[in-house]
This record gives sequence, C-alpha cells and structure tokens, in this order.
Amino acid sequence: MDKLIIRGSRKLKGEIEISGSKNAALPILASSILAGGESTFLRIPDLRDISTMGKLLSHLGANFSFKDGRVSLDTTNIKSFEAPYDLVKTMRASVLVLGPLLARYGRAKVSLPGGCAIGQRPINLHLSGLEKMGANIKLESGYVIAKASRLKGASIYFDIPTVTGTENIMMAATLAKGITIIENAAKEPEVVDLANCLISMGAKISGAGESIIEVEGVDELKPATNYEIIPDRIEAGTFMTIAAITGGNILLKKCKVDHLDAVISKLRDAGISIDISEKGVRASLKNEITSVDIKTMPYPGFPTDMQAQFMALMCLAKGTSVIRETIFENRFMHVAELRRMGANITIEGGTATVKGIDKLIGAQVMATDLRASASLVVAALAAKGESIIHRIYHLDRGYEKIDEKLKKLGADIIRQI
Ligand code: EPU
Repeated sequence: MDKLIIRGSRKLKGEIEISGSKNAALPILASSILAGGESTFLRIPDLRDISTMGKLLSHLGANFSFKDGRVSLDTTNIKSFEAPYDLVKTMRASVLVLGPLLARYGRAKVSLPGGCAIGQRPINLHLSGLEKMGANIKLESGYVIAKASRLKGASIYFDIPTVTGTENIMMAATLAKGITIIENAAKEPEVVDLANCLISMGAKISGAGESIIEVEGVDELKPATNYEIIPDRIEAGTFMTIAAITGGNILLKKCKVDHLDAVISKLRDAGISIDISEKGVRASLKNEITSVDIKTMPYPGFPTDMQAQFMALMCLAKGTSVIRETIFENRFMHVAELRRMGANITIEGGTATVKGIDKLIGAQVMATDLRASASLVVAALAAKGESIIHRIYHLDRGYEKIDEKLKKLGADIIRQI
C-alpha cells in the first residue's frame, strides 16, 4: 500500500493551480445519464473517485474516456440500471446515479451505502424525496430498488440540507412531469455547478444556491458540451492551511475566493494573510498562528471538509481553540493520529479542544478518510523530523497529484509504493 514520507519544517513557497472540484464533478458526470449521446466536460480532476465514477458509468453501458482533464461520456447504450455493491462500497457518491437512472429509464437498483469512517450517512432523504415524486422504492438484500413510470413534480422539504440528496432530486426533477420544489435545499457551490450544467443541457431550474430550488420538468435534455467544472474549494483551503502552518507563502491560481468566505475569514482571524488579486490568492503567515474557534455548518458556514485540516493548523496556534463538528457524528478520526505527533487535543462529543503547542514531532500515522488524511499531511509538513503516512489511497480519492504539487512548493515528500 502506498505511503507518503514527509520530512517537515520547510517553508513552502511558490504557486500552484487549483484542480477542478471533485464534489462538483461527480454529480455532473452522473447527470450525463439524463441525456442520450455524447457529453463532454472540462477540468475534471484526475482522482480515484473520478475513475470509480467512470467505472460505474461504464458498467451501466456508457462509453467513458478521460484525457488531460477532459471527459467524454457517451450514454447512448445504457443497458444496465444497477450500481453494484463493489463500486458503491468504494465510493458513496455512486448513489448519484439513482435520480438520473430513475428519471430517464424509470428504474434503478443501487447498493445501499453502508456507514463510513465519518458517520452513518443514511440516504433516507434521497429516497423519501423520490417517493414523493411517485417512485416505488423497496429495500432488498442491501439494494435500493426503485421504479417509476414517469416521475412527477412534488414539493419536497429536507429535514437536513443534504448535498447529494439535493443533487439527486434536482437531477430527477429535470425530466419529471411538472414542477418540483426543494425546500431547505443544500446551497453548496457544487449544487450550483450541477444546476448550471443541467441548465446548459436544457433543464429549467431556478434558485440553486438558495434554500428553495424550483425545477420545471422537460421532456428531454441534450448532452452537455465542454462544460467546465468549478475549482475545488477544499483543495484551495487545504493549501491555504499548508502555507500558514509551514510559515510559507503560496499563490493559488484558478481558485474561486467567493466559495471560500468562511475559511478565509477564519484563517485571517488566525493571523494568516490572504491577499486576493487578479493573479490569484496568496496565503502567507504574518507573525504567529493564533487560536480560533470553529463550528462546521452547511454552506455558507465553515465546511466540514476543512475541519480536520484547520484542526492540524490549530495544533500549533497560540492559545486554545474549540472545534465543533455538527455535520458528521464521527469526524474526529484524525485526532488520535495528530496526538501521535504530539498534539494536545481532547474530545467530548462533537467538540474538540485543541491546546496549541510549540512543535509537532514527526511520527508514523494512519490515514482513515480523505480529509483526515489531508490533515495528517498538513501536520507532517510542519512537524520536526520524518512522518510516514500510511493508507494514502484515501488522499488519492480527492487530491489531484498532491505529492507533485507539494514538491513543486519545496516540500521534502516521497511516495513509497
Ligand atoms: N443525511 C441524512 N439523511 C440523508 C442524507 C444526509 O440524515 O438522506 C445527513 C448526513 O448523515 C449528514 C448530513 O445529513 O449528517 C449532511 O450530509 P450530506 O448528505 O450533505 O453529505 P453527502 O451529500 O453525503 C457531501 C460531500 C461530502 C461532504 C458533505 C457535507 C459529495 C460527493 N460528498 O456528502 O464530501 O462532507 O456533502 O458537505 O459531495 C469529502 O469530499 O471528503 C466529503 C465527505
């Protein structure tokens, strides 16, 4: 299994380009099912989750090809309607084919995702939304079996603003008969990007990015042509924390700052200088890192996907920081590993208290999920001595060429296969 060997305490400097967003690309690739013919997408990141989505769409009968960030997807010959257990267990986002398959073909069989390292993550809201649209849904032998002759518009209220739930219902509603209203919808930029892609395919959607989304169903959609994915705000935020924790100075190119308001605001509170110009976003440390409290919230709140990396930064802050995770019930798996590097963190329920220390010391640590892995990289880059990060396949799910990008910034990092 691949591991990363990092010798820390180097100030990382230079510039990098932010990749396309993983969590925008995944639903957008799934949306190609809604239209027959060849769709093309640009700025798709080269990640394990993207190749898993490619495998899933190929399994359904699509022709998937990927080169230099450009994906071409021909869905003319979709002949299977099943997302099998083996693919769903490696990537929960596989559930994003449910809405499109049901809307276009009236049937779908999707393995029910189990719990995962960060929480139980049920999909009850996806299913009850589709039921409201007239789908008949059964759970059988670990699979969701959904059928509908033609979905019909409905009023759907989400108890919790779910990102992939909003995406699944929005995709399903594009081909439903009548109008669908999604209330308490997720407002994440990835939801807006999917809506923009669907609109480019001929869908009638308004309100994406707000809490009420309205979709008027149409009879058919045309394939997307060269639709370009938004930059990955979590990758950008992760590199900002890397600039900060290493006392470095990094220029992030092709990054969309207005998707990062909460993260930038908290970094500035922590003493990090974030300069925005037409060249890009420059992150550097002014004097010392000061402690800041954070509470994860749905967008536009502080993203749960940045909590672990921010916690790594707070390990070296002056003072004590209180970090509250409110989205997932088990997203503190990185804490025990950060402690192996000397961090002073205690957890009580969904709250972690981080007492800043002078230095972290390199250690062998284990990656447990994508963002936990990223936090270990952030910590290892600042730590004194050598760290070995095991199980980095988690990292490869969501960070494009992270070791190459870090090397370019001056990191001493080796991937051992
Ligand atoms: N929830 C339910 N029922 C549902 C759906 C969600 O109770 O039917 C709960 C979840 O258990 C959680 C909360 O609602 O407590 C929010 O979960 P959400 O559905 O929004 O999460 P998701 O759609 O499964 C996406 C991202 C995650 C990101 C979350 C939150 C994708 C492919 N995944 O997951 O990304 O953490 O939204 O922003 O978009 C990552 O990239 O590392 C990652 C985990």
